[in-house]
Amino acid sequence: MDALRPATLGVTLPAVYDDYAAQLFDFHHSMLVDEVRTTSFLRAIAQQVQPGDVVVDIGAGTGVLSLFAVLAGAGKVYAIEQGPMAEVAGEIVKRNDLGDRIEIINEWSYEATLPERADVLVTETIGNIGFEEGILAWVTDARKRLLKPGARIVPSAISMMVAATESSHDYAEIGRLRRPLYEFDFTPLADLASHTMLWTDFSPVSLVTRPATVVDIDLSTTRQVDIEGTVTLRARRDALVHGLGCWFVAEIAPGISISNEPPTKAPSWNQGFLPLPEPVSVSKGDLLPVEIRSDGDGARWGWSLGVGEPAELTWTQPTAPPGPAPRVAY
Ligand SMILES: C[S@@+](CC[C@H](N)C(=O)[O-])C[C@H]1O[C@@H](n2cnc3c(N)ncnc32)[C@H](O)[C@@H]1O
Repeated sequence: MDALRPATLGVTLPAVYDDYAAQLFDFHHSMLVDEVRTTSFLRAIAQQVQPGDVVVDIGAGTGVLSLFAVLAGAGKVYAIEQGPMAEVAGEIVKRNDLGDRIEIINEWSYEATLPERADVLVTETIGNIGFEEGILAWVTDARKRLLKPGARIVPSAISMMVAATESSHDYAEIGRLRRPLYEFDFTPLADLASHTMLWTDFSPVSLVTRPATVVDIDLSTTRQVDIEGTVTLRARRDALVHGLGCWFVAEIAPGISISNEPPTKAPSWNQGFLPLPEPVSVSKGDLLPVEIRSDGDGARWGWSLGVGEPAELTWTQPTAPPGPAPRVAY
């Protein structure tokens, strides 16, 4: 969303109240009080950080994971956060008298340089479908420039899960815009939605197939910044499939995982709904080949679901300059 802000676009507008601070507060507050998320990271950091370790926290936000790293005994934490939350994190570090242990760096991680390489990388830049917040790009860059060889990475692995779904609500909303509204034609808005990964909360009853892993990436070895995966699903019942439901399973550390599978227990995340161009009628037992991929460092995403044989990919149409795709505004 930042890419759409007038200042970023170099546009001068009349002064109006800017609600960016409210968005920033809501975003970070909701993550901070999501105890499923925070306690998973707290346990993982306690397991992975050894006394005296140098830690780098990419996307530090309020600095909560950097504080957890200090709790685990880190000697020094470099907390990298681009944007205005870095200033707030700096104040939080000061209030907790940890200025000598946590250094806030207000930059994108791929522009940051550190005076030493780190033993551990901590990053909660896990998107609704795992990878769309840029975690692969941040981690592969950090492994090259900011980390010691063999550094521990929290999270250690991320899988993307996919299921064929009936999502009649989201789909009905798109369909409504394909019919005249107030006697006017709003179909361009429907076209935008049907080429977009939409965020939603699925009920498990809307899943037409069992979920399957379509992408599985070990963050300590991968060199990928784009994902690609195929899997064949099997319909569990007769249904009209409207799209793909996607979510992640992240191994934060060995034995500690977190997921936003429906019904969601970690309120920081929704699931992704990837709409099909047309609803597809399936019968119980049908094989449904699925493909999901990204390109341009995650700037574009494509997906398809066929019945019996693979179908053509639907691609997202970026509405903003390429950049990280935040859950909400950063
Ligand atoms: C999902 S929030 C997590 C914040 C915090 N770590 C937490 O757990 O509450 C991700 C944060 O990372 C920042 N961010 C994402 N990618 C980044 C990068 N490559 N470099 C610096 N900041 C980044 C965003 O501005 C956002 O504040």
